[in-house]
Amino acid sequence: MTTQIPLRVLMLGAASGIAQATARLYAAEGAVIGLAGRNSERLGSIANDLTARGASRVEIFEMDLVTADPVPALASMIAKLGGADHVVLAYGVLGDQALAEKDLAAAQSILDVNFRSAAGWSLAVANVLESQGRGSLVVLGSVAGDRGRRSNYVYGAAKAGLAVLVQGIDHRFRGRGPRAVIVKPGPTDTAMTAGMAKGGPLWATPEAVAAVVRKAADSGGPVVYAPARWRLIMAIIRAIPAAIFNKMNF
Ligand SMILES: NC(=O)c1ccc[n+]([C@@H]2O[C@H](COP(=O)([O-])OP(=O)(O)OC[C@H]3O[C@@H](n4cnc5c(N)ncnc54)[C@H](OP(=O)(O)O)[C@@H]3O)[C@@H](O)[C@H]2O)c1
Repeated sequence: MTTQIPLRVLMLGAASGIAQATARLYAAEGAVIGLAGRNSERLGSIANDLTARGASRVEIFEMDLVTADPVPALASMIAKLGGADHVVLAYGVLGDQALAEKDLAAAQSILDVNFRSAAGWSLAVANVLESQGRGSLVVLGSVAGDRGRRSNYVYGAAKAGLAVLVQGIDHRFRGRGPRAVIVKPGPTDTAMTAGMAKGGPLWATPEAVAAVVRKAADSGGPVVYAPARWRLIMAIIRAIPAAIFNKMNF
């Protein structure tokens, strides 16, 4: 009889709608799951749900991921999990574009969370995966990073930088075992988009995006769109000449 060792998965920003849906897929596989985020009470109820869905073990790591020092924090979380096969980086903030245009501190805060901090964690995870010679880093980017537009270009700029960083990490990994993937969702029905008019063919559920994230941890990449149709949509949007694009109102 062979005993299968459960996957060990670390979710950075585990209370995010997309992260929760992804963690439920891992729970159904019997994974050991680490939940890192700011609110331990919230993480506690997510942990109970994951345990009920089949997770082998769930650990909670309460921290502000933007102010935490990734290198020691990662070492201690991975020690508690007994290793790391997959790391999913899901935290982020949309921010307020209109405010960011008037208030430099607000703009810098959006860049700080979505780029500086996320890049630091990605680089720290890359070193761990490289030293163990295996494992996957899956980072949540956004289609907003594919072309600057007036309604969200500060957020989009951070996600664009993050996408290049993750592509570079995957290139660095080539032939060495580990993998890195940037998953770029389109608009998804989570807390991040509360207050927006939702529905219609361009909107996805967190479950649909989670299925792409889970698959990306095993194969494909380094750039994956969620759902896949966004690859074509963004190729068309990137190809629109600026003279036409700048007359469009979105
Ligand atoms: N929803 C979309 O339409 C969409 C589209 C494209 C890309 N994405 C990206 O996909 C990822 C997940 O998005 P989502 O829609 O699932 O977001 P969400 O439900 O709004 O969750 C975002 C999470 O980020 C966490 N977070 C923010 N700052 C943090 C910090 N300093 N330390 C720890 N955690 C922090 C929040 O923690 P708290 O719970 O403590 O506030 C929250 O749980 C994000 O990177 C987002 O940019 C989302």
